Amino acid sequence: MEPKTIKKIGVLTSGGDSPGMNAAIRAAVRAGFYYNLEMYGIYRGYEGLIQNDIKKLDSRYITHVLERGGTFLKSARSAEFRTPEGRSKAYENIKAHGIDALVVIGGDGSLTGAHLFFQEYGIPSIGLPGTIDNDLSGTDSTIGFDTACNTAIEAIDKIRDTATSHDRLFFVEVMGRDAGFIAINAGIGSAAAAILIPEKKMPIDHLVDKLKIRSKAKKSSNIVIVAEGGKSGGAGEIAEKVKKFLPSYDIKVTILGHLQRGGAPSSFDRLLASKLGVAAVEGLLQGKYDVMAGLINNKVVYTPIKKAIIDDKSVDEEDFRIAKILST
Ligand code: F6P
Repeated sequence: MEPKTIKKIGVLTSGGDSPGMNAAIRAAVRAGFYYNLEMYGIYRGYEGLIQNDIKKLDSRYITHVLERGGTFLKSARSAEFRTPEGRSKAYENIKAHGIDALVVIGGDGSLTGAHLFFQEYGIPSIGLPGTIDNDLSGTDSTIGFDTACNTAIEAIDKIRDTATSHDRLFFVEVMGRDAGFIAINAGIGSAAAAILIPEKKMPIDHLVDKLKIRSKAKKSSNIVIVAEGGKSGGAGEIAEKVKKFLPSYDIKVTILGHLQRGGAPSSFDRLLASKLGVAAVEGLLQGKYDVMAGLINNKVVYTPIKKAIIDDKSVDEEDFRIAKILST
């Protein structure tokens, strides 16, 4: 497609919020101003696009947002945008504001929406990987993943204190939808006894054997990290199963939940979001449409959205091997 003249860009955040989304919005808006563009904030993701919740942004909107978690544009999961009628309403609103292009910050569902919208209406769009799950191809890390891992590790360290004081076995459930990236990173980073991820099956008897070996070695605390999307169930279910084999163990369960999505972004996420925010606007000006901007080996890479959302990124085998060595 020939590059279109772009004067007005709309920015939205969609799906589960992630730390660093604000930094990405700010970078895209600042870059837009640098290139003399008009920048529009679309509130509550695609929902706001459908309901015409759109505001022209000036620099006041992006003052002191870089360091804040969440997204000041707010976020939503829009069922209506999944329908052709919803997307048609969204298109009418875009036309009414004269918006020429979109920057969509979100996870795979949000980027799928951008791809569909481009296919149907030809609205130039660039996606940025904004999710704590790290489950998008075309980038080494998604915006918010590093912060979420830091938050999980900080929480697990605290659990470790009480687990050690009482010689307890804890099952800690972390987020990640159906991917084990947070689990494997947080597990390695917090000296977990075992890490259960959706990508690798670990039969209960293997886990029980592992815990028995650790018990013989007189380990004073055991923390098992369970990724939420595992086929054998969440931390509660796994704990119940293990309890049957190890009735003498004092077992506790903690689900970290949404606290992993909050908090100020780490320096890594601030930098990643800032680089990608600029890359989004520059990419659009260069005629790169229907792509996701990501960072691979510290270089900006534009990957077709269709490719980025295909679920072919999986936990590094090497990380899994290291986790195994370190948890014996
Ligand atoms: O995709 C981000 C994420 O936090 C997942 O890790 C989690 O499974 C899901 O969103 C939770 O969604 P919600 O906030 O709608 O409960």
